[in-house]
Amino acid sequence: MSTAVACWDVDTATTSSHLAIRHRVFVEEQGVMVLTDIDAWDRDITTINVLAAHGREVAGTVRLYDLGEGRWKGDRLAVLPAHRASMVGACLVRYAVATAAAAGGTSMDASVQVANVSFFERLGWRCDGEVGPYFGLPHQPMVIDLEGVAPIASAPVSDAVLRLDSVGTSRSSLLVTA
Ligand SMILES: CC(C)(COP(=O)(O)OP(=O)(O)OC[C@H]1O[C@@H](n2cnc3c(N)ncnc32)[C@H](O)[C@@H]1OP(=O)(O)O)[C@@H](O)C(=O)NCCC(=O)NCCS
Repeated sequence: MSTAVACWDVDTATTSSHLAIRHRVFVEEQGVMVLTDIDAWDRDITTINVLAAHGREVAGTVRLYDLGEGRWKGDRLAVLPAHRASMVGACLVRYAVATAAAAGGTSMDASVQVANVSFFERLGWRCDGEVGPYFGLPHQPMVIDLEGVAPIASAPVSDAVLRLDSVGTSRSSLLVTA
C-alpha cells in the first residue's frame, strides 16, 4: 500500500519547515537562487504557505498569493528528493488550486520550469504565453481556471511528529513537533 500524502496550511510552528524545504531545493539543490529564495511575498501576511507530509515526514511545500481581480499565483513548489515520485507534488498543486478557488479566485498563474510543463498539464494547467527567464532559467507561464474546483480539507497534523531528516547535513536541518 502506498504511503499517505497530506497537505495543510502552514502556521507559525511550521513556517521554518516550509522555508527549509524551499532553501534545500531552490538554493542548495538547483542553485536557482543564491543565498536565499525569500522575497517580498514572504513578508506579506496574506500569503498562504502549504506543507505536505508523506507518511510522518515533512516532504514538500508550495506558496500561493492573491494578485487581485480574481487572479492568484502559486510558486515555490518543492518536494524533497527522497519523497519525489510519490504524488507529493501533485497533491500540493491540487491543494494550492483548491485553496485559491475557495478564497474566491477565478484563475491561478504559475511560472513553470520548462522540464515540469507536462507535470502541470496533467494536472489541468495550460501554457499561457511565451517562455521567459526567471532568475536566469527558462520558465513557461501557465494558468488554470478555478471555476468549479472543489475544496480540499486541510490534513489533521496536530498529533504528528514531523521529521525533516531528508534535508540531511544541510544547515537548514531541523526537527518539528507539531
Ligand atoms: C517537480 C516536482 C514538484 C514534482 O513532484 P513529485 O512529488 O516528484 O511529483 P509527483 O509524484 O506528484 O508526480 C505526479 C505525476 O507526474 C509525473 N511527473 C513528476 N515530475 C514530472 C515532470 N517533471 N515532468 C513530467 N511528469 C512528471 C510523475 O511521474 C507522476 O506520474 P504518474 O501519475 O504517472 O505516476 C519535484 O520533482 C520537485 O520538487 N522538483 C524540484 C523543484 C522544482 O522543479 N519545482 C517546480 C518548479 S516549477
